[in-house]
Amino acid sequence: MRTDVSVTINGEPWLLAVESNDVLLETLRSKVGVKSPKIGCERGDCGTCTVLLDGHTVRSCLVLSVEVDGHEVVTLEGLDDEGLTELQQFFVDMNSFQCGFCAPGIVLAAAELLEENSRPSREEVQEAIGGNLCRCTGYDPIIDAVLAAADAGGRATQ
Ligand code: FES
Ligand code: FES
Repeated sequence: MRTDVSVTINGEPWLLAVESNDVLLETLRSKVGVKSPKIGCERGDCGTCTVLLDGHTVRSCLVLSVEVDGHEVVTLEGLDDEGLTELQQFFVDMNSFQCGFCAPGIVLAAAELLEENSRPSREEVQEAIGGNLCRCTGYDPIIDAVLAAADAGGRATQ
């Protein structure tokens, strides 16, 4: 059944006609045109489809599009409309990513963590990004960048 969904995406209001079984990941990519949430496992295991829903990370492959009616979605594209956040710059400066497939999910997970806990321990960073699979880096440069951003008081999402 087709339904209209009213949702704020990266600060912009959208009215989207979706089917009742459409998943948010596909709606974002095909109807809104945001490509940072990637199509990975499509069953909640890899984290590459992560977005912020009302400020909290969710797997967009597991969220029905109708569920975001009246809510706010932020993807990597919406973290900072003026360029890279300070957190993202630390990831760049510390060569945290290689292929980048995991980057959208890990950046958003780290941003959520730093919003809630500005001085996380290494273990807390590991736990926060733990649901995001990275096949390239071994995680250490990712964790180091989050800790460096925290040490510098780096902005997460604003
Ligand atoms: S594509 Fe959603 S968790 Fe893997
Ligand atoms: S940088 Fe390639 S999967 Fe993480």
